[in-house]
Amino acid sequence: MTTQTYPFSLPPLPFAPDALEPHFDARTMSIHHDEHHRVYVERLNAALKDHPGLHGRTIENLLRNLNRIPPDIRPAVRNNGGGHLNHSLFWSLIGPPVKTAPAGPLLDALTASFGSLESFRVKFREAAAGHFASGWVFLVADARKNALEVLALPDHHCVLATHQTVLLVCDVWEHAYYLKHQQKRADYVDCWWQVANWQEASRRFGRPVEAEA
Ligand SMILES: [Fe+2]
Repeated sequence: MTTQTYPFSLPPLPFAPDALEPHFDARTMSIHHDEHHRVYVERLNAALKDHPGLHGRTIENLLRNLNRIPPDIRPAVRNNGGGHLNHSLFWSLIGPPVKTAPAGPLLDALTASFGSLESFRVKFREAAAGHFASGWVFLVADARKNALEVLALPDHHCVLATHQTVLLVCDVWEHAYYLKHQQKRADYVDCWWQVANWQEASRRFGRPVEAEA
């Protein structure tokens, strides 16, 4: 859960743009972060500018309570706010390839939920490569089900249920891969697997479920 409120700001990439080479190329990373994500933040702030009653809310609070957002700015908050939240998660859940793999309680949970790490990888790859149009694919821990799940969401929809914790996320918008892979999204997903940040996933798996925002 983030504590930042209006005006929202673009979080810095937690690594150099070329740090994920050869899997994620530096040019795509720079355009993706410096242009696409920046524009979502700017448009979110522009939508909220004349609504001071919303300036004290976190991005999660805004997105969880869209029905309380004035209708004229609701689509802008949903789309650009969702883009901001999902991209912020995305940067934190990828990192330089260090050949890490899940271990300990997270590996146990993956095995219990999917049968094996390889079965999870296949399921996630199918969901990401087969996702229609633009969207996001998540690995989430569901506290109510005491299980891990793969979730595919359209556009910039977010995982907002307070009993679900995002452990990994893959951006399957074309802007995430088209420069390098063109239409071959499955190749991009295979590259994403090489930079998935299992260390951060394990940290998030071990933390308590968030309180309602
Ligand atoms: Fe993106």
